[in-house]
Amino acid sequence: MCALVMPVDDGTRVRPRTPEVERLQHHIRTLAKRKNAVILAHIYQRLEVQEIADFIGDSLNLSREASRTNADIIVFCGVHFMAETAKLLNPKRLVLLPDMKAGCGMADMITADQARAFKAQYPGRPLVTYVNTYAEVKAEADICCTSTNAATVVRSLPDREVLFAPDMYLGGWVQKRLPERRIITWHGYCPTHYVIQPGMVRARKAQHPEALVLAHPECSPEVLELADFVGSTQGIVEFAGRSSASEFLILTEAGLILRLKALHPHKKFYSIAPCPHCPYMKFVELEKVAACLEQELNPIEIPTAIMLRARRSIERMMAVSTSVQPAD
Ligand code: 13P
Ligand code: SF4
Repeated sequence: MCALVMPVDDGTRVRPRTPEVERLQHHIRTLAKRKNAVILAHIYQRLEVQEIADFIGDSLNLSREASRTNADIIVFCGVHFMAETAKLLNPKRLVLLPDMKAGCGMADMITADQARAFKAQYPGRPLVTYVNTYAEVKAEADICCTSTNAATVVRSLPDREVLFAPDMYLGGWVQKRLPERRIITWHGYCPTHYVIQPGMVRARKAQHPEALVLAHPECSPEVLELADFVGSTQGIVEFAGRSSASEFLILTEAGLILRLKALHPHKKFYSIAPCPHCPYMKFVELEKVAACLEQELNPIEIPTAIMLRARRSIERMMAVSTSVQPAD
C-alpha cells in the first residue's frame, strides 16, 4: 500500500496532492496520448488514479468501453479479472495491468476444476459466473454476469434451476428477485464486503438517521435487508445523483465514496466504520501506471483454447445486456 496516504473524516484515505503527484498525472496523460492508449479505471481505484482515467465505471461499463475502443493500448486500472475481460472482448489490443498482484479475493475462491465439479454435481443446469472470476472459470460457464445485470442474465435463461458462482451473496440477491427460479450458489464471497456487519450499519445509521443506505449486492443478506437501495457501483453513483436526499450511508468499498464526493460535493456520504478497502484495487498506484505504460509491462495473455470459450460466455452476457432493458 502507498505510504503517502492520510485518513480523512469519513474513513477513506487519500494521497496528499503534491507537485510529484501532479507531475506523474501529467506525465501519464501525455504518454497515453503519444502512445494512443486509453486508461480505464474502476470506481474503487485511488482518487489520483481515477483522475487520470479516460473512463471510470463499474465492471459492465468498463467491459463496454474495452470492447469498443480503437486505442492501441488499454491500461486497466482495476484488478486482474477486469483486465482479462477487456482482453477477451478486444483481443487485438495490448491490455496492461499496472500491478499483477491486483487480483481478487472472491475470484480466488473458485478454480476451473471446482467449476467443472460443480457442474458435474448438478448435471443439465446452466452455469452463470460472475465476471469476478478468472478466464479459465469463465470458459466453463454458459454465460457471465456483473452486479448490474445478474438478475437480467438469469432471467434470460429458459432453465428453472441455475448454478451461480462464485458469489453466494449476489446469487442470494438474484434468488430474492427471481423467486420462481432456483439459484444453486457456490460458497464464495468478497472478503472486503464480508466485514460489513448489520450492527455496524445500525450504529452508523443511529449517528446519521436521515441518511439513505446504499449497498452493493456483494454484502450479506442481513446487511442488504437494511438498505434503501441495492446496486452495482455505477448503480449507486446514479441513484445518489438522482435522489432528492442529501445524505447517504455507503455500504461498499472506500473508492466509491471518493467518487461520489467528487461528483456531488454538495451531498454528504458516510462510510461504516472501519471503512472497507479492497487491498487488491489499491495495488494500482500512479508510479506503476507510469512504468507500465512507459515499458509496456504486464500484458494480459490468455491461452487460445481458454480465450475462445471464455469469450463466448462474456459475449453472451453483453448480448443480453444490450438487448434487454436492465431491470435489475
Ligand atoms: P461492480 O461491477 O459493481 O463495479 O463490482 C465489481 C466489484 O468487484 C465489486 O467488488
Ligand atoms: Fe474482488 Fe471484493 Fe476487491 Fe471487488 S472488492 S475486486 S470482489 S476482493
